[in-house]
Amino acid sequence: MNHLHFFGIQEEPFRLTPDRDFFFPSRAHAAVAEVIRYGLESGEGFLIIYGEVGTGKTMLLRKLGSYLHNRYDTAYIIAPQLTPRDLLFAILQDLNALSRQESDQSAPALFQKIYDYLVRRNPAGKRLLVIIDEAQSLPEESIEQLRLLSNFETDKEKLMQILLVGQPELREKIYRPSLRQLRQRITISETLQPLSAAEMTAYINFRLNRVGRADLTPPARVTKMVYRYTRGTPRLINKLMSRALLMSYAAGKQHIDKKSIKDAATSLDMAPLAGFRGRFGRPAS
Ligand SMILES: Nc1ncnc2c1ncn2[C@@H]1O[C@H](COP(=O)(O)OP(=O)(O)O)[C@@H](O)[C@H]1O
Ligand SMILES: [Mg+2]
Repeated sequence: MNHLHFFGIQEEPFRLTPDRDFFFPSRAHAAVAEVIRYGLESGEGFLIIYGEVGTGKTMLLRKLGSYLHNRYDTAYIIAPQLTPRDLLFAILQDLNALSRQESDQSAPALFQKIYDYLVRRNPAGKRLLVIIDEAQSLPEESIEQLRLLSNFETDKEKLMQILLVGQPELREKIYRPSLRQLRQRITISETLQPLSAAEMTAYINFRLNRVGRADLTPPARVTKMVYRYTRGTPRLINKLMSRALLMSYAAGKQHIDKKSIKDAATSLDMAPLAGFRGRFGRPAS
């Protein structure tokens, strides 16, 4: 018997995949999604979503997926450690706009190809949206290449929109003097915040409910502790809660208590995280 069977659960409630069936509509997610939709609809050329590791950026993209696919031709790049040339190549490849013989074309040729693609596609009324996840790994020259791409426009509108999604390091990159031209183009940039303590409890409850065991949601004195270790970051919540289930099982307990959380944290080598308030209760500046 594994620990999930012990709890009468079929599937891992706290798995670490951005699974849309487990999407929890937090306020932060809804707010960012709203601004992004607005920005896309009003034709902004460059949009950015920042967020710490594990706050749910990729999940948000998955969730926006069906909305985006209906309205846009999308190219979705997930591993952007690419030279400018390889980035152009990856975009065309994701659009299925390259034939085998064209795989060794130069950057200018690929650039031209994207332009041709846009002009050809535009009468269909669908704009092109290039989404780059983990965009903090894009080399500076490749970010600059994206700026050049976003110059493609008709008299009336941009032919292409670009959505960058990345960790806070992306912001530092974009603020480098060499990218100031790009920075001036960015009118929409949103930061995905972690869950509040109250939302975190609702999130835990939501996931347990999905597998039919909402009653396993721990009481406030226990969730408080979960919050101290995770500060509302979904990936950390999942890790800790998943391990806590295992710890409860190992101890033969049909519930999650403080000891389960403590043991889980120890086993994962997680320490309490500093929050917005300092140790002495003062708000951090
Ligand atoms: N709104 C949400 N609803 C449900 N699960 C979420 C949500 N946001 C994040 N998660 C979970 O947290 C984990 C990390 O999310 P992910 O999107 O990969 O973070 P990021 O891309 O910001 O590093 C995933 O396991 C995902 O299932
Ligand atoms: Mg991600």
